[in-house]
Amino acid sequence: MDTNISDFLVIGSGIAGLSYALKVAENFPEKSVTIVTKQIASESNTKYAQGGMAVVLDGNDSFEKHVNDTLRAGDGLCDKDVVDLVVSQGPKCLDELLSWGVDFDHKHPKIYDLGKEGGHSINRIVHHKDITGLEIERSLLKNVGDKDNITVLSNHFVLDLISEKDLIGNSCSDFKGCFGAYILDKRVGVVNKYISKITLLATGGAGQVYSNTTNSEVATGDGVAMAYQINADIMDMEFIQFHPTVLYNDKSSFLISEALRGFGAKLRTIDGKFFMHKYDSREELASRDIVSRAINSELQKRGDDYVLLDCRHLNKDEFRKKFPTILDKCMSFGVDVFDEMIPVFPAAHYICGGIAVNNWGQSSIKNLFACGECARTGLHGANRLASNSLLEALVFADRCFLKSSDDIINSVSLAFKVKEFNANISFGIVNQDFIDNTKKSIRSLMWANVGIVRTDNDLKKAKQKVNVIYTEVMNKCNKHSISA
Ligand code: SIN
Repeated sequence: MDTNISDFLVIGSGIAGLSYALKVAENFPEKSVTIVTKQIASESNTKYAQGGMAVVLDGNDSFEKHVNDTLRAGDGLCDKDVVDLVVSQGPKCLDELLSWGVDFDHKHPKIYDLGKEGGHSINRIVHHKDITGLEIERSLLKNVGDKDNITVLSNHFVLDLISEKDLIGNSCSDFKGCFGAYILDKRVGVVNKYISKITLLATGGAGQVYSNTTNSEVATGDGVAMAYQINADIMDMEFIQFHPTVLYNDKSSFLISEALRGFGAKLRTIDGKFFMHKYDSREELASRDIVSRAINSELQKRGDDYVLLDCRHLNKDEFRKKFPTILDKCMSFGVDVFDEMIPVFPAAHYICGGIAVNNWGQSSIKNLFACGECARTGLHGANRLASNSLLEALVFADRCFLKSSDDIINSVSLAFKVKEFNANISFGIVNQDFIDNTKKSIRSLMWANVGIVRTDNDLKKAKQKVNVIYTEVMNKCNKHSISA
């Protein structure tokens, strides 16, 4: 088992991890930054973000309006100080993205084409067609590639964080907190130690615990799990956001951006009836929780599997310009959006809770920071306002950068020894069918019992079943236990 040392260890390669890495690398050219990502670097939830980033730019908009929309969507459970902080940083974050070469759509050379989504009282979303996340990911990775002091380890999977329990022979109180991670190089099946002064978790979402999700296959909640294992505080995990409109098709869980409803698309039941007016005066542009529950209620009442999104009345040229990817994707599944309605249903989209952090992105564990979807900052409350997540990731990556810059200057030396990783599972020995079936059971259980509408009874049953699955997994793994 090799030991590698870096000043900053960044786990995750979406907007949060990459923007943080760029800042520390730029400001500390003599320090080393390691980014770890379990697949290729571009694979992240960021890449699939369609809508864009909410920023107050329009003369008729104000920070106060954006704050109020965020608080209303969050159902009274947002932390107002955090909302004020994040919203006020929007223009600065936009400038940063521009400095990294991200391209946003304009109406006129000096006027952005601002989109609208559910819960926003005004158009305020900067976007790059319907592939904003992909454009951001592309630009950030390009900048990262230009930095000599950043190493990107793709196909590397973090198994566990290193904490004081892993240090050999240390009783000094300085040695408390997180000191890096044990990381599996998936290409060769070898675990190595990566020791660091500062560790940032930017591992993204957990949508893959549901059978229906918009999330990338890498969004399996690893960051929250590893923080939990070393007793970090975790909060608000019950607040899962379901996106109302995902293409209903068994081959894909392709997101149909809410920006389409902002552009005028309407929801109908299969027999052609509008229904959103029965649930909220904002109709299709109510916040996501309300629209998802409304669709769910219509599906339950009628016994249908999907509702329809009607775009047939929309301006075709504008549609082509703004939503080329959605147009192509629907066409590839045989739906001509100018002629037919798009079958859609809600799916798990975003986790509002996560690793509890303060206003500087610090977790309850020393030297361990978190930002992006895996962190619970208090911005979203019970339900995130659309297009606030890219903004939150940038703002908190910046806060983590500012605070960890102080910490790195005052950090203690890393001259200590770390125990070898004691693997409970011998990689490759546990049967793949068992792993696949276990994942399938968890996903269906979460969808059925911890879905859009849940009861206490559903949650109790889910907890019991998860415990049964956990025991099965541990029995199976312990049978094959070895020390690596
Ligand atoms: C969307 O385009 O509908 C998703 C944007 C978001 O999740 O904020």
